[in-house]
Amino acid sequence: MTDRAAIVLGIETSCDETAAALVDGDGRVLAERIASQDEEHRAYGGVVPEIAARAHVERLDHLIAATLAEADVGFADLAAVAATAGPGLIGGVMVGLVTGKAIAAVHRRPLVAVNHLEGHALSIRLAEAVPFPYLLLLVSGGHCQLLAVEGVGRYRRYGTTLDDAAGEAFDKAAKLLGLGFPGGPAVERAAREGDGARFALPRPLEGRPGADFSFSGLKTALAHRVAALAEPTPRDIADLAAAFQAAVVAVLADRTANAARAFVTDYGTGALVVAGGVAANGAVRAALQVVARPHGLRFAAPPPRLCTDNAAMIAWAGVERLRLGLTDALDVPARARWPLGHDAPAPMDAPAGAR
Ligand code: KG4
Ligand code: ZN
Repeated sequence: MTDRAAIVLGIETSCDETAAALVDGDGRVLAERIASQDEEHRAYGGVVPEIAARAHVERLDHLIAATLAEADVGFADLAAVAATAGPGLIGGVMVGLVTGKAIAAVHRRPLVAVNHLEGHALSIRLAEAVPFPYLLLLVSGGHCQLLAVEGVGRYRRYGTTLDDAAGEAFDKAAKLLGLGFPGGPAVERAAREGDGARFALPRPLEGRPGADFSFSGLKTALAHRVAALAEPTPRDIADLAAAFQAAVVAVLADRTANAARAFVTDYGTGALVVAGGVAANGAVRAALQVVARPHGLRFAAPPPRLCTDNAAMIAWAGVERLRLGLTDALDVPARARWPLGHDAPAPMDAPAGAR
């Protein structure tokens, strides 16, 4: 039986997925709708903020209505409305947050303004019972961080990227290799057919102390390799994709091993969790499993559909926050930038488009 007293509606519009989901207090996903905008952005090889915002406006209301209808849930049945309030493309974030505010105001439901990164960070707890604290590798299109997750709203950072995010690197590699958009899944598919040992690519910061990341040198090296081939064959493309993915995986594993050492010193034991779009990658997951073992950490990864952007993780973050009484006022702002662990309102937000 569903705990109908604790159903939260989640709304996600921070990038190029428009999504709505209903999740109950036990973590059951009662209904879920997700509309990706791959077609709209494909011609540009990346997400165009204005196009994304408009697409969210056009789709969100229908999506929410269909989600409620599927679960036979009315607005009055909701324990709360949880909407992504940042970080992300500000136009899209505003569409989702304003919609959430309107539902909350009209139906007198509490509002939870969810940090999209916290949605990713807690997504594992929607999939399985992983207690706090845990070590989190958060790898998405806009972020690449290693964090200790001590609890809801409580994060300590071990490392972050000095330049590109891991997903961004996958997307740029896909573009260089002519594999299209979105890049991550395309590179993973091509890499499966390739020989990762044929081309040597750099593995920035590998073997160095600390838990920071860097991917721009790898991207540049790949660009040079591609340029050196007059007319790359499908074999060349597959081999380059495999070499690129192997380099990213090696860097992620190396930096995570350093953070695991620090985490075990700080907290004794726990789990190693991976989340965000890049966590859908099979090679990344397999490598992290190997990293976790010698440190006595259990490895946990959400199913791939919960790794890429979705509204179930936003609803779930809403469930977790609501439980702690962490609801928000209706004047809570949309935020282009919002680092994890910084819950105070930011009066001076980043310009539109910053992530
Ligand atoms: O979490 P997410 O859906 O959106 C952000 O919050 O950024 O992550 C999207 C990123 C994109 O860069 C995409 O290329 C990457 O995740 N991604 C992957 C895979 N699936 C998605 N990267 C590598 N392998 C995949 N299978
Ligand atoms: Zn995301």
